[in-house]
Amino acid sequence: MTIHCHPELERSPIQTAARLLADAKRLLVLGGAGLSADAGVPTFRGEGGYWRSVRSEDLASRDGFDKAPEMVWDWYRERRLTVANAQPHAGQRALSLLQRHTQGTILVATTNEDDLLERAGVTDVVHLHGDLFTTRCAADCGWAARDDQDNALSLASCPACGAKVRPGSIWFGEPLPREALDRIAAFDPDGLLLVGSSCLVKPVSDLPLDLVNHGCPVVEINPEATPISDYVAVSLRGTAKQMLPALVDLLTSCTVRDQARRIT
Ligand code: APR
Repeated sequence: MTIHCHPELERSPIQTAARLLADAKRLLVLGGAGLSADAGVPTFRGEGGYWRSVRSEDLASRDGFDKAPEMVWDWYRERRLTVANAQPHAGQRALSLLQRHTQGTILVATTNEDDLLERAGVTDVVHLHGDLFTTRCAADCGWAARDDQDNALSLASCPACGAKVRPGSIWFGEPLPREALDRIAAFDPDGLLLVGSSCLVKPVSDLPLDLVNHGCPVVEINPEATPISDYVAVSLRGTAKQMLPALVDLLTSCTVRDQARRIT
């Protein structure tokens, strides 16, 4: 796809990013906590990243749960409530437009456990770190269910075996869902748009550099520099809400114009 633009804009980073990503036939969009930040969902690190001065590593872990299950549940209940009361922002909605109007194929994956992308209209989202609203048996008897916002299931014992219940999220030290990893591998991306990830938590943090090393264009959107900023093709310094609508506009305008021409 050719991106047409005013010569003055030719040199802007966002224009360069659009030019690079437009050539991808299978573009992976990978979102971290920063993708939901503009919707009012706190990130895990950086300013305001702690919860009651506890690190997420000490809450989202088997050890943390075994030591203080109620504190861990309080954190999850609060996060569930925050997400349930949040609305997707313009950047998340732009990703839904991108899926519909681009010429290549777009797979959206995220380490976020919220459902804001789905509510923004993004389809087939790959959740690498699980789902915030799932409650499951802490003794691994196999019972799991979707808990709604009143968190009723989180307050009871496992209905199948009577053990404690735990959040269904993937915790530090636990393997990522095989199906999610397989979907990304099968997609075989030839371009990556990385949004709002600190690139500090493995194994997902390895993916951008792997793609860089395979010669794929990688574009990062983040208001701050990350460990991979120096290696990516373009690092767009701004928030998801600022950058995504503008980038998606550049990536889709030709397709939308073509579609409109065919209709009229
Ligand atoms: N738009 C884009 N990026 C933003 C915004 C924003 N509005 N606000 C903050 N960011 C960036 C920050 O600069 C930071 O680089 O988002 C990133 C958030 O980093 P983290 O809090 O470390 O979140 P993430 O990288 O998603 O963490 C990975 O760690 O605790 C675990 O399981 C949890 O999935 C999470 C994982």
